[in-house]
Amino acid sequence: MARVKIENLKKYFGNVKALNGIDIEIKDGKFVVLLGPSGCGKTTLLRCISGLEKVTDGKIFFDSVEVTNLSPRNRNVSMVFQSYAVWPHMKVYENIAYPMRIKGYDKDKIKEKVVWAADTLNISELLNRYPAQLSGGQRQRVAVARAIVLEPAVLLMDEPLSNLDALLRVSMRSELKKLQERIGTTTIYVTHDQVEAMTMGDEIAVMHNGVIQQFGTPEDIYHRPANIFVAGFIGSPQMNFLEVEVIRKDNVLFLRNEDLSIKLPKDLAEKIENDDNKKLILGIRPEDIHKEKDKESTEFEAIEGKVYFTERLGSDTIVHLDFKGIRIVSKLPGDVKIKEGENLKMYMDLGKVHLFSTVDGKALI
Ligand SMILES: Nc1ncnc2c1ncn2[C@@H]1O[C@H](COP(=O)(O)OP(=O)(O)O)[C@@H](O)[C@H]1O
Ligand SMILES: [Mg+2]
Repeated sequence: MARVKIENLKKYFGNVKALNGIDIEIKDGKFVVLLGPSGCGKTTLLRCISGLEKVTDGKIFFDSVEVTNLSPRNRNVSMVFQSYAVWPHMKVYENIAYPMRIKGYDKDKIKEKVVWAADTLNISELLNRYPAQLSGGQRQRVAVARAIVLEPAVLLMDEPLSNLDALLRVSMRSELKKLQERIGTTTIYVTHDQVEAMTMGDEIAVMHNGVIQQFGTPEDIYHRPANIFVAGFIGSPQMNFLEVEVIRKDNVLFLRNEDLSIKLPKDLAEKIENDDNKKLILGIRPEDIHKEKDKESTEFEAIEGKVYFTERLGSDTIVHLDFKGIRIVSKLPGDVKIKEGENLKMYMDLGKVHLFSTVDGKALI
């Protein structure tokens, strides 16, 4: 186990800045997810941590030891890849034993650890099979068993579940998470799937364009997104964004545009007291727009428009409302009685409104 600390890490491929100044400190024993769209630099960051990729600039520490220029085998890390990468010509036992063999462990020690790793991954009965005789999920378990057999200080996983079918992916999520809790190895897990990130990560680093946009707990990232990118990337359907202007009238603050005039509740107003006449982006999640005012929250803003489109998802209904030419998306209960084309009044929960700068996209609240 180890704490992983990364300082101003850069990795350029020619003029592609795959990593452009990464700073992060991952505490010992944590399960941290790197989340972001394809091409944002997740795999590159993982490969730099493993030593498979030489960094352009910056430093990497495991505990207080700088490992930036150490070869992978001297770092005490293991990596699990998206493709299972198990050796087809070796039985499961030999696959798991392989990292120990190349380090020259004796036979008894190897056996003891292979049995432990196989037991931990629930594949003890498969030790005599060849990979071709295994399902995708079983093969991935073998890959994970092989990765933990040497009890690495840091375990790296790059989209390990993305080749599995949907049902198996869901059950493997909880299995991997429980496994990590049991063995306690500091784990860095890459995915582009926000549900995977939210359900597995103790903390999530959201990446975009080779930079970490926000590092926090799943709760932080969802409820307190640091900027428009994070707000838009996390949550499905996506947060609604509206351009508004801060207007003061008789010493009361309003958020206004051609179609809206929202009188700000006091706690929200306090945060933008000095922003008179500034343009801002208002963000509100689909789940914070309701068909009825729920009584516990105090302040709501009504919006009325025509139902343009509904998506019946079973447990939820996604309503696309045409509000004066703007599309507003809300998430209502699955059994809500709504028809396309009808007029509908809905209520934005003003306690859940996010505000962002139009200049740099940073959250104001
Ligand atoms: N070996 C390489 N040579 C050139 N460009 C690369 C190489 N590896 C990655 N890149 C580029 O670096 C960026 C980040 O890639 P990657 O880390 O694979 O992203 P992700 O894993 O988030 O999808 C992309 O623009 C990709 O094209
Ligand atoms: Mg990748």
